[in-house]
Amino acid sequence: MAKQIRTVGVIGLGTMGAGIVEVFARGGLTVIGVESTEEFADRGRGILTRSMDRAVSRGKLDEAGRQEILDRITVTTEMGDLAPADLVVEAVPEVLELKHEVFGRLDGIVAEDAVLASNTSSLSITAIAAPTKHPERVIGVHFFNPAPVMQLVEVIHTLRTDQAVTDAVRDLVTGLGKRPVVVGDRAGFVANYLLFGYLNSALTMVEHGHVSREDLDTAMRVGAGLPMGPLTLMDLVGLDVCHHIGDVIYGHSRSPLHAPSSMLERMVVSGRLGRKSGRGFYSYE
Ligand code: CAA
Repeated sequence: MAKQIRTVGVIGLGTMGAGIVEVFARGGLTVIGVESTEEFADRGRGILTRSMDRAVSRGKLDEAGRQEILDRITVTTEMGDLAPADLVVEAVPEVLELKHEVFGRLDGIVAEDAVLASNTSSLSITAIAAPTKHPERVIGVHFFNPAPVMQLVEVIHTLRTDQAVTDAVRDLVTGLGKRPVVVGDRAGFVANYLLFGYLNSALTMVEHGHVSREDLDTAMRVGAGLPMGPLTLMDLVGLDVCHHIGDVIYGHSRSPLHAPSSMLERMVVSGRLGRKSGRGFYSYE
């Protein structure tokens, strides 16, 4: 198990998936990105090219380098095109049934020694691995948003994950210039478990009228040296994603620290999802 990883498949080309494709391609790997429809495939291509264009306009990449990176990437709507992949990273929406459908099909597509990974931010890797015949090759690789910028990658092993798979993925992540941490399979893993207690406390303060949104964010940005305050961060991650992660963590911890915020729920139901919908705690229109 765990041969050298040269070709990587990424399933789901939303914000996280497209960012992960970029990270692998920049790292010199051949990348096959898969989306369910041509429309979503186009959206994924758009995210990728905009990110590359931004790097060129900031002088971080020249035209030839941009083209070289894009030439390593193929985007397709056929899962069967993943056959040559040494590693497949799933980044489809956080719905266990969807993840099961993907993992159930992968066994019949990739080689027996290919590694199957999920970029889930909170669901159990053990549960996601259930439909595969080879749970020993299943692992979590949790990138942070925005994936091309954030250094941390949580490498999540289950009780069944082969140690050689964990080692190979950790080495791969290091080779991409990222900082891996190896963690066990529990709701929210390490970073989100701790982060979401903090984000939830921020929500409670705003909900109780303790502080304005702007002053809360300023307090943490200026006073604690964070790149952005908690409400701006939730707008970046997506309030629907935050709501989902919070629910999963609370389902396991039952800690009042993670108790669902009714304000967050109301915002999600009314379509205020953060940057991606143009409005969350702040307006981006
Ligand atoms: N995609 C690609 N690159 C991006 C980007 C994006 N979405 N956003 C910013 N960048 C790049 C810029 O191009 C720039 O690159 P260079 O330095 O090479 O020129 C760099 O990031 C800095 O960007 P800006 O100057 O525009 O803005 P900034 O300095 O305010 O940084 C930020 C933006 C990187 C997002 C920074 O504010 C930050 O680090 N915020 C905190 C993000 C964070 O905590 N993420 C974790 C969220 S939790 C999570 O992801 C877990 C989960 O499961 C939900």
